[in-house]
Amino acid sequence: MEGKLYPEQNREHVLHLLSRCEDFLALPSPVQVILGVTSGRSTSSTTLASLIQNDPVIASGIIAIANSPYYGFSKKIHRISHAVSLLGFEEIRNLVLSMAVVQLFDHRGFGSPDRIWRHSCAVGVATRMVAGFFKVKIESKFFLAGLLHDIGKVFLSQYLPDKYTEMLAILEREGGGITYHVLEEAFFGISHAQIGKMLMEFWNFPEGVVHAVQCHHAPSNAVTDAFLASCVHIADLICIVKGISPLGDRYFLAVDKKVVPLLTGLKENFCTEDLFSLLSQLDLEIDRQSGFVSAFRR
Ligand SMILES: [Fe+2]
Ligand SMILES: [Fe+2]
Repeated sequence: MEGKLYPEQNREHVLHLLSRCEDFLALPSPVQVILGVTSGRSTSSTTLASLIQNDPVIASGIIAIANSPYYGFSKKIHRISHAVSLLGFEEIRNLVLSMAVVQLFDHRGFGSPDRIWRHSCAVGVATRMVAGFFKVKIESKFFLAGLLHDIGKVFLSQYLPDKYTEMLAILEREGGGITYHVLEEAFFGISHAQIGKMLMEFWNFPEGVVHAVQCHHAPSNAVTDAFLASCVHIADLICIVKGISPLGDRYFLAVDKKVVPLLTGLKENFCTEDLFSLLSQLDLEIDRQSGFVSAFRR
């Protein structure tokens, strides 16, 4: 590789920005109030519902989510109070938090406009689909972990756009001589997965979601909820194979082979046929979940 990369300097710069993220990545106060209420045990559903009701954007998002096929409720939900009682405080908390986080970033990422968000939403939907395949209880964490798995890349592209463009130019110049992930570490001295972990901790996401973001390229390393991290990993692979990638190509992505014993524990003989089946369902699933996804992309 030509030229010097200065990873120590770049890493220091990234860490400095992260240490200041309170200044530019703090959640709006109405959202903070809702999050505070959902974590307290003494609040009633009525109080939570009226706080959500006060914010028309959050309220319409919650109604759209509750009526989407994501959860598969049989009856139409018109009232926030009904959505709160059906979903529960924890789900509401995770949904409100994630909707707010997505709004903190502008969606004109690196490369082609909003390619990263298209990839992120597709991975969110695919993560839920993979979890459904293993017949586990469907919760919001599947979509959210998939949606935010590459948030570290979004951060780099938005807050260090010149450096990020420089790194992508090197990747282009190397023409396959180096993988994206190897170059990212060599250039920034830190991976987007590590950056993602720090951001998710800053926003107080549940531990399992933090670990899924941190370990989405090596899910067997996830200390908490390795199944969730594995679902994100497989979803990421499926989307890349489908060509729904952040860089618009089928860039090299290593498979963590240690996920296999974990998944075969849930479904005997998990095999390539199952991967093909998941791959072929993805387009339909993205279509089916469009109402859910649009609550996050306004
Ligand atoms: Fe990634
Ligand atoms: Fe990804």
